[in-house]
Amino acid sequence: MDNHRFLWIAPSWIVAFSAKRIAWHILLFLSAIAPRAAYGQVSYSIAEEMAKGSFVGNIAQDLGLDLKRLKSGKARIYTTDSTEYIELNRERGVLVIKERIDRESLCGQTTPCALHFQIILENPMELYRVTVEIVDVNDNAPTFKNNEKRFEISESAVIGSKFVLEKAMDLDIGTNGLQSYTLNPTDNFVLKLHNQADGSKKVEMLLQKPLDREKEENMALLLTAMDGGDPLMSGTVQISITVLDINDNAPVFSKSVYKSIIAENSPKGTLVTSVSASDADKGGNGEVSYLISNTLDGVSELFHIKENGDVILEGKIDYEAAKFYQIDIEAVDNGGLSDSSRLIVDVTDVNDNSPVINVVSKSTSINEDSATNTIVAMISVDDPDSDTNGQVHCGINDNIPFTIKSTSNGFYSIVTDSALDRETDSEYNITLMCSDEGVPSLSSNITLKLQITDVNDNAPLFQKSSYEASIVENNSPGLSVFAVRAVDADWKQNARVSYILDESVINGVAISSYVSVNAESGVIHAVRSFDYEQIKDFQFRVRAQDGGSPPLSSNVSVKIIIQDQNDNVPQILYPVQTSSSAVAEIVPRSADIGYLVTKVVAVDVDSGQNAWLSYKLQKATDRALFEVGAQNGEIRTIRQVTDKDAVKQKLTVVVEDNGQPSRSATVNVNVALADSFPEMLSEFTEFTHDKEYNDNLTFYLVLALAVVSFLFIVSIIAILSVKCYRWRRERMFYKSNGQLPVIPYYPPLYADVGGTGTLQHVYNYEHYRTTDSRKSDMKYVRPCNQSILSLDNTDIQTLPHAHSEKLIDDSGDQVRSLYYFSPFRVTKM
Ligand SMILES: *[C@@H]1O[C@H](CO)[C@@H](O)[C@H](O)[C@H]1NC(C)=O
Ligand SMILES: *[C@@H]1O[C@H](CO)[C@@H](O)[C@H](O)[C@H]1NC(C)=O
Repeated sequence: MDNHRFLWIAPSWIVAFSAKRIAWHILLFLSAIAPRAAYGQVSYSIAEEMAKGSFVGNIAQDLGLDLKRLKSGKARIYTTDSTEYIELNRERGVLVIKERIDRESLCGQTTPCALHFQIILENPMELYRVTVEIVDVNDNAPTFKNNEKRFEISESAVIGSKFVLEKAMDLDIGTNGLQSYTLNPTDNFVLKLHNQADGSKKVEMLLQKPLDREKEENMALLLTAMDGGDPLMSGTVQISITVLDINDNAPVFSKSVYKSIIAENSPKGTLVTSVSASDADKGGNGEVSYLISNTLDGVSELFHIKENGDVILEGKIDYEAAKFYQIDIEAVDNGGLSDSSRLIVDVTDVNDNSPVINVVSKSTSINEDSATNTIVAMISVDDPDSDTNGQVHCGINDNIPFTIKSTSNGFYSIVTDSALDRETDSEYNITLMCSDEGVPSLSSNITLKLQITDVNDNAPLFQKSSYEASIVENNSPGLSVFAVRAVDADWKQNARVSYILDESVINGVAISSYVSVNAESGVIHAVRSFDYEQIKDFQFRVRAQDGGSPPLSSNVSVKIIIQDQNDNVPQILYPVQTSSSAVAEIVPRSADIGYLVTKVVAVDVDSGQNAWLSYKLQKATDRALFEVGAQNGEIRTIRQVTDKDAVKQKLTVVVEDNGQPSRSATVNVNVALADSFPEMLSEFTEFTHDKEYNDNLTFYLVLALAVVSFLFIVSIIAILSVKCYRWRRERMFYKSNGQLPVIPYYPPLYADVGGTGTLQHVYNYEHYRTTDSRKSDMKYVRPCNQSILSLDNTDIQTLPHAHSEKLIDDSGDQVRSLYYFSPFRVTKM
């Protein structure tokens, strides 16, 4: 009601004040004029928040009271509660601000806001009512309880989604109070205010455009609340929005097709290439894992893809098996979204394959007589590498009689290219070497073993061109003499040699009765006992034959020489030996020293040393009278014969050959030293004395035999005794004739010679030289019936009945040949 009154007065004054703080001045003005109109009551209007001591109103003036009255009346303010704000200055009669007044705390939202109090005076008591209206000043800004608000919003939030914001508060009232809100920026959200029943507003933010975490993950918005004061005040709140990811992005490969090149045989673990897929999502939604999605083609075993997209070689890749690989790769995020791409891996060839040699067919053996160009093996060669790495050349080792021929497309044949000979090389190792043209070149080889089979193309070959062996006569039959040996260069049966004696005839007798040959061993056996005196040597042929079909053979000549053995005693030709040596040589008593009494002539049918005879005087009546020429058997006187020498001289000469052991014969030579034949005869009757002696001897022997028989002497002794007895009886028979028996004696070989009865003997001997014979030899010339005696050198060899000795001394040049002629067959000179 009071305000209306002020407003009613005021218009004429309003223009006098400046626009600012116009209300306040109006109040001051009104204060000055009010007391006249309203007795006992005065009103003031002041702005809140005035400083202490600020003037509120001249209460004395307005109430029409002088200062004295105020003092005397002890004017004071009476209030029930708000005294503290306003103070009365009695000296000046004005009201001043005692305490700062905050309208908001005094009245809150209540309006109008006024302080009511009384001024009380005493003497007399007066009571005045004072009302001080507190006018709002815009001293409060809109405020929010929190200065920050956080939201976490999924990027999948739909348009129109509401998000409630905090309301702001402004303690001021009226236009100084909260007036409006703004939100910035407004790209995604728009502010929406709802009036509420209490007049306040509900503040919301609406999603007007979808969120995309991938574009903007964090947003900062500013909500501003403004009042209508002047100056305008505002408060803000920070709105932080975190956009929560949803798996709204699939991984994306950086390329739709990847390409890579890798050499075959690259080691395990080689990095083939790296692929990558990106996923715009965050966290698990953006975590990409890779996998190889090939199935069944084995690629997934060969390659492995790591978490970081590196494609690693896991297995062995072989250009020859596959020249490229298509790897289907997938990238998958944790949310299961995926992308696929393809990796094409080209494999490059490396010369990693040696040529492969296959033996299509082969012979393990061929005949040595195979023709040239005989195929030994067929071979195929293959190299899986490509281009030059797969170009192959083949060859075989040198120095063998084989060559390699290339037929078509990798086929080769190995053929013989010259003659084979098992006896030189019985087997070949054919090494086939094939190499490709790669760098470095790879090669492989095989060795074929080829046996050369034997063909009977070699005859047995004797180790010597001829054989000669000697055998000592009187051998035991069956004695093995020596062995011939032949070797056949062929093999097995073709080289199995048997020895065959070639039929021939020796002295009219088949060779097989002389010798035999062991077919297996080639040992030659004597079939019979040989007698050098009959056959001195013989030749035959032995054939060696192999077991081939047809067989081949060769032969060799074998000579067997019979060696002499001293198996014949010297045979004394002269003087002829009879049981009673009544023959005597007559030596005249006038004979000079060196008189040739006679010559002992002996032969030995052996040869060589075995027939080389020497003569020795064994016994003699007078050793001082005669000597025997050791070599010629000539008996000569060695001193003058004297009258004292007995007429009858008996010499025993031993003829000994030079064999080992030597054999010998003895001969008794009776010599009569007489000048006439009758003288000699008379002397020789004395030889009958011997008969008496012999009779006595016979008697004793018979007696001895009788005794021996009684003593049961062994039968051999008895037989010998009987023989002895018989021999004696023969002697007795001849002697009983009373004549001088002359029994010619012939060596066995002279048996064909007809006997003569003549006693006459003639001997000649001749010295002559030979130069051709270097042997000390005694040659025996067979006797025959011719009775020509010629001492011609040229004829002497053919002379019959001649016995010659060629003597050679140790120096070998002086050879003496002696020829003796049987006195019994040389009838004429
Ligand atoms: C062939 O090779 C074998 C070993 O494999 C060897 O014993 C033989 O002596 C070789 N032969 C030739 C003729 O080289
Ligand atoms: C013995 O060999 C010779 C050649 O050494 C030959 O001429 C002759 O015919 C052969 N004789 C026989 C019986 O085989």
